[in-house]
Amino acid sequence: MSSPQMLNSLPATSGAYTNGMQIPKTVKVGHLNHYFGEGELRKQALYHNNLEVRRGEIVIMTGPSGSGKTTLLTLVGTLRTVQEGSLKVLGHELNGATNDAIVRLRQELGFIFQAHNLFESLTAYQNVNMAAELQGMNRKLADERITYLLTRLGLGHRIHYKPKSLSGGQKQRVAIARGLVHQPKLVLADEPTAALDEQSGREVVTLFQELARNEGCTIIMVTHDNRVLDVADRIVNMVDGRIRSDVAVHETSVICEFLRRYPLFADLQTSTLTEVADKMMVEEAQPEDLVIRQGDPGELFYLIRSGRVDVVVEENGEKRKVAELGEGQYFGEAALLRDEPRNATIVARTKCLFYTLGKVDFKQVLDRSKSFDAEVRAVLASRT
Ligand SMILES: Nc1ncnc2c1ncn2[C@@H]1O[C@H](COP(=O)(O)OP(=O)(O)OP(=O)(O)O)[C@@H](O)[C@H]1O
Ligand SMILES: [Mg+2]
Repeated sequence: MSSPQMLNSLPATSGAYTNGMQIPKTVKVGHLNHYFGEGELRKQALYHNNLEVRRGEIVIMTGPSGSGKTTLLTLVGTLRTVQEGSLKVLGHELNGATNDAIVRLRQELGFIFQAHNLFESLTAYQNVNMAAELQGMNRKLADERITYLLTRLGLGHRIHYKPKSLSGGQKQRVAIARGLVHQPKLVLADEPTAALDEQSGREVVTLFQELARNEGCTIIMVTHDNRVLDVADRIVNMVDGRIRSDVAVHETSVICEFLRRYPLFADLQTSTLTEVADKMMVEEAQPEDLVIRQGDPGELFYLIRSGRVDVVVEENGEKRKVAELGEGQYFGEAALLRDEPRNATIVARTKCLFYTLGKVDFKQVLDRSKSFDAEVRAVLASRT
């Protein structure tokens, strides 16, 4: 059992049982439905939406008018009550959450919505400061942050102007500063650049990128503005109340590049490859972590992105290391194909990064790729 293929062919058990660290999600939406109106007028606006957003990600939501973007955004922002499904924000389940929990959570959120509702009698500085005071921010910190944000947004010379002396775009930028002043962990922005010229729009999204990188701030932004799509880590497209596509832009292209290097995926068309990459999840394991356990049911296929693992088989109460796998090799396929329990244990030798693919998606890829299907089946046949 020393050829890589033989090693690869050892079935593995489900990732659900790994000790591999799962990075916590800032937002996790599960089977979310939403309705407006009562009785006969009741109309469904969101259908079975699922979405995961990681810390520090910039998500751009697009889609036609009436497709449910604002509805979803306001649900995430606790501005509407969750009716059906699960919605976790910063680790808190909102379905059935108490008022107290919601009020506390709201302090971690920053809102930038279309109607900016600035106080006409207050200056730009004072409008932003109002939000800082409501959040109980330290005076000196608040002052620095307000000056920094307004300057950064190109309003340095208008800090002490009142809204009536500001243009629509300038007012919008004051509202943006107000939404960001308290260093929120999650920013929800509905068309933040709509009223802005190209340069101001660019300044806003560059600021978002800085906050995401430097403060780990997560940003979900609805926009029709194609000029700013390049800042997105993930683009979510909604149509008729459903998330039609959800593409992790950078990660997908990195995974695609990796997959492309291996013969297993070689005859997949770019579009299929992208689809596969998009469905893959990233999992980490530390040295000694049990990745899968012999005898467990199989749910995931694993591709090793980096690191090395040991393949251990237990027979008659005796454990025997039968192989070692490294970058580009895979495991876990046999249990998925045969609906059998894992027939080996996989333990991380070093720190590892895996790309994993769920059972259903794995089978779909097999159907699409002749070489993938043939190789996997040949490997399985050679073992029996
Ligand atoms: N308060 C409300 N009462 C009743 N129906 C509503 C309400 N808000 C939204 N809707 C309906 O829900 C659907 C989704 O609306 P939503 O505002 O989320 O769309 P959107 O994608 O944000 O559109 P736009 O790009 O025009 O802002 C639409 O059919 C809309 O008519
Ligand atoms: Mg909207």
